[in-house]
Amino acid sequence: MEKLRIMSVFGTRPEAIKMCPLVQELANREGIESLCCVTAQHRQMLDSVLEVFQVKPDWDLDIMTPRQTLSTITSKCLTGMDEAIDALKPDMILVHGDTSTTFAGALSAFYHQVPVGHVEAGLRTYDKYSPFPEEMNRKLVSAIADLYFCPTANNRKNLEREGITEGLFVTGNTVIDALKTTVREDYKFSTDELNHLPYGEKKIVLLVTCHRRENYGEPMRNIMLALRQIAQEHEDVELVYPVHLSPVVREAVDTYLRGGPRVHLIDPLPADEMHNLMARSYLVLTDSGGLQEEAPALGKPVLVMRRETERPEAVAAGTVKLCGVEYDDVLRMGNELLRSREAYDAMAHAVNPYGDGHACARIADAILWHFGRRSERPADFNA
Ligand code: UD1
Ligand code: UDP
Repeated sequence: MEKLRIMSVFGTRPEAIKMCPLVQELANREGIESLCCVTAQHRQMLDSVLEVFQVKPDWDLDIMTPRQTLSTITSKCLTGMDEAIDALKPDMILVHGDTSTTFAGALSAFYHQVPVGHVEAGLRTYDKYSPFPEEMNRKLVSAIADLYFCPTANNRKNLEREGITEGLFVTGNTVIDALKTTVREDYKFSTDELNHLPYGEKKIVLLVTCHRRENYGEPMRNIMLALRQIAQEHEDVELVYPVHLSPVVREAVDTYLRGGPRVHLIDPLPADEMHNLMARSYLVLTDSGGLQEEAPALGKPVLVMRRETERPEAVAAGTVKLCGVEYDDVLRMGNELLRSREAYDAMAHAVNPYGDGHACARIADAILWHFGRRSERPADFNA
């Protein structure tokens, strides 16, 4: 019997962190030829992940340009994918999450009548402009997909409410699979600065990302100024911020945060360094999706600098709180966690609503089952 040709398509850092373990899992399955096509919507930040996980793409669209727009990303992906699909002839295309690469990858698969598996399916805020454009991207991919790999039972319910009842699997999030390969107690960082931070001593390390398009402008300014004030007010805090390569983010950081006391602005970290730094940090302040999933698994409280989240599971578990994008709110909620041991302890416990580290195995099993190459449907992940 010919091997199934399963092509994973991704382009940004978070997609890569969450898809590389799956590319590897598929490659280890006898009945599958695992193919990998990257759009390189991100370039350096993607390549860094590929290196950590030792994944070599079969096809690279290399589309990134400085300050790219949503239209240029989408149109370049669509054009490039035509060639990749014609050359690699996949039996199924896997896309991940909600980026422009995800949407264009799924649309292109549809144009070529190749079935689509959506990894990280069913997340919703029900606000089409927030996160922008991700909420719309994932809804559009839901309309195209044939198989839906939902991280949680809640994500599955979201899809069922939209009338999607076939091809649903609850798998856990592959990011927890990734974390299990990267975090180690004896980890040594590649720079002295990170090796010599005062972990576990009096000083407290905060870890931050901030890049969402809906936060461009006023919200990003508020966030940066609040972070600066937090670092200013707490002598026992070291604020460590690996700054995204987006010029919009860098401009805001340079204008409002650079030069603040106890503020360490560093370049984006390779995924293994980031995960190990988070494991040693005290508190996470972020607008990132992936960090909302990773930090709870590591027992780190998270303040999410957004107005809503499509990841309510860790909020319900009490380890994540939304703090919005207003200066006063970020400052007040950051201060509370830094000043009140009680408030901190109430949030600092490890929970795993997003996965058990076996999401990739479930997805591979589900694909084989779908194509009649395996008799048993995989059991759902149950948090
Ligand atoms: C993208 C995704 C977002 C995801 C985020 C993860 C879309 C519309 N947005 O947002 O869903 O949460 O990635 O980080 O799909 N750049 C570099 N080098 C890199 C990466 C980015 O220079 O390795 C710069 C480029 O100038 C690029 C800009 O950052 O134009 C913005 O990248 P883009 O992918 O458009 O937006 P993100 O904010 O990264
Ligand atoms: N991350 C990383 N290096 C960094 C910052 C983040 O490897 O310097 C990882 C982080 O651990 C998480 C992912 O990148 O797995 C989140 O990516 P990002 O915040 O860019 O996107 P989002 O998750 O919001 O889509």
